[in-house]
Amino acid sequence: MMKKVLLFTLLIYPLLIIGQNNTKLAQTPPMGWNSWNKFGCDVSEKLIMEMADALVSSGMKDAGYEYVVIDDCWQVARDADGNIVPDKERFPSGMKALADYIHSKGLKFGLYSCAGTGTCQNRPGSYSYEEKDAKQYAEWGVDYLKYDWCNTEGLDPKVVYPKMSNALKATGRPIIFSMCEFGLSSPWYWAPGVAHLWRTTGDIQDCWDCKHDWGGKGWVLILDEQEGLEKFAGPGHWNDPDMLEVGNGKLTIKEYEAHFSFWCLLAAPLMAGNDIRNMSDTIKNILTNTQAIAVNQDAAGIQGSKILDEGSFEVWRKQLKGGDIAIILFNRGEKSIDIDIKWQKLGLGKSFSTRDLWKKADLGKTTGYTGQLEGHSVLFYRLKK
Ligand code: GLA
Repeated sequence: MMKKVLLFTLLIYPLLIIGQNNTKLAQTPPMGWNSWNKFGCDVSEKLIMEMADALVSSGMKDAGYEYVVIDDCWQVARDADGNIVPDKERFPSGMKALADYIHSKGLKFGLYSCAGTGTCQNRPGSYSYEEKDAKQYAEWGVDYLKYDWCNTEGLDPKVVYPKMSNALKATGRPIIFSMCEFGLSSPWYWAPGVAHLWRTTGDIQDCWDCKHDWGGKGWVLILDEQEGLEKFAGPGHWNDPDMLEVGNGKLTIKEYEAHFSFWCLLAAPLMAGNDIRNMSDTIKNILTNTQAIAVNQDAAGIQGSKILDEGSFEVWRKQLKGGDIAIILFNRGEKSIDIDIKWQKLGLGKSFSTRDLWKKADLGKTTGYTGQLEGHSVLFYRLKK
């Protein structure tokens, strides 16, 4: 008996506590802003502080965006003791001061590192420094770590990601762990419990369906790769189809609306990737569409999936808590098409009182949709039980 009590106190109880720290996080998909898509390596404390200010003044914070994440290139070296050294020219006040500033705005602070010996931009990686780095992040006040997969020759993601995950848990600070391993080892099978989110593909690009040899691609191609992954997502463990390109300039407003609609329907992390200090009202209205965001943040945490594929016309649905259904009618072709579709035929039910999430209008009771749908656009509806 004594042995059992001792075992519980020394071994099991601490594990339960550590586990709790971890599992309470990311009960809905994380929301925030990340520097990479727009700024690449051109990051500085000035930029990050301005972005935190803009998150508040634009209304994005009120809409739910919380994490301000500095991606690659904030780090330049390790000191003689192996501590990671931030770029002193670009971050003269240091990471603790920056974290304090971000926290003072009611926001949370995120950093980036890499499971390999170097980051994807060949800055020092965290391989073999996991505990040291995790402790350092916790001391600075880091709330979110994006952890990449470059310079990892010979390393096993199933070993090195848990290593950093455990090091973060051991700090006792609640830190969201975002794995960026491009889906290479099918992390959806093994990463729940290790990370709160894991990238499922190569890097998103600000285009419709372009494709680069090195793996970068447009959001429509990324969307196609999410099919079948829906069963692996849920509160505390999300598929990550990469950060948003909304507002980065290369797509039309309808195309950005479609991109945002799908990231909401997929229960994807909503990490804005544009210059939110200088965005148009149209872009701001996309990013702060609270009824679309409510679909993303729905407490049931169910990732939506495709229910009809007729070539350029697709229908996707996401089951919401309490019985409502979010639905996207998607024209992926360039030309406008005529649609005549009944909810019943899609297996959803006969009629629903319907909210158009982009028109922000109640459409009354509908039994389906008959009408045109422009090329490269969506209709995004909430069908109410
Ligand atoms: C990888 C990631 C990107 C970004 C860069 C930084 O390509 O997928 O999101 O973090 O590294 O170098």
